[in-house]
Amino acid sequence: MMLKIKSLKKSYSQGLETIDIFQDLNFQVQKAQTVAIMGKSGSGKSTLLSLISGIIKPNNGDIILDKVSYKDLKESQLNDFRASNIGFVFQNFHLVSYLNALENVMLPAKVCGISNPKEKAIELLKDVGLEHRLNHLPSQLSGGEKQRVAIARALIHNPKIILADEPSGNLDEETGIAVMDKLFELIKKNNTTLILVTHSKDVAKRCEETYELVLGDLTKC
Ligand SMILES: Nc1ncnc2c1ncn2[C@@H]1O[C@H](COP(=O)(O)OP(=O)(O)OP(=O)(O)O)[C@@H](O)[C@H]1O
Ligand SMILES: [Mg+2]
Repeated sequence: MMLKIKSLKKSYSQGLETIDIFQDLNFQVQKAQTVAIMGKSGSGKSTLLSLISGIIKPNNGDIILDKVSYKDLKESQLNDFRASNIGFVFQNFHLVSYLNALENVMLPAKVCGISNPKEKAIELLKDVGLEHRLNHLPSQLSGGEKQRVAIARALIHNPKIILADEPSGNLDEETGIAVMDKLFELIKKNNTTLILVTHSKDVAKRCEETYELVLGDLTKC
């Protein structure tokens, strides 16, 4: 099993109010499986991805990624573990504004100390059709181009799992399809596990399984 979520509880405190997002969530994803997560705005989809990434902590329960329990890791170990094993694609790209496309893609490889980061970054940027945009800053790229840079960046360190939060949400239909084609092509090539949050049924259909997040529980569609 690539991912196990066990009895996960997460609530946010906002002033005097407590917002319960997950009370007792259990969920599993197999290696190389592709899973779509749908659900209403505010249902907790991004919270779930943040918990899986270890960026935010649950109030209770555990997450086990590739047999490693987050409970057993210290903060610095969890940060290293995340950097080596997880790739992210965010809706608003999160590219580093003062680095060009090539440097943005190289970044995770450099953090993980992977050899030949430049060659790998160039190859991935070719894969996503951006070999002519290596030296462009994010501000000099279109939305779809930024998203393709983000996909290349998510894959460069060969992560075990990709967490994608509405990766085509900001794109026109045609560009969104092209970007998703690339993401799925690269994921299949590398046997990467994918958890993809989306509001689009068409995007969800590309995944082997679709779940809906309702009242803190994931139900298979
Ligand atoms: N840091 C926080 N503090 C307090 N409340 C939060 C915090 N982060 C998120 N929330 C609340 O938790 C709920 C779930 O948020 P989340 O971002 O996970 O939703 P989502 O399913 O990703 O929604 P969307 O589809 O709009 O992106 C929302 O009601 C949000 O207001
Ligand atoms: Mg969200």
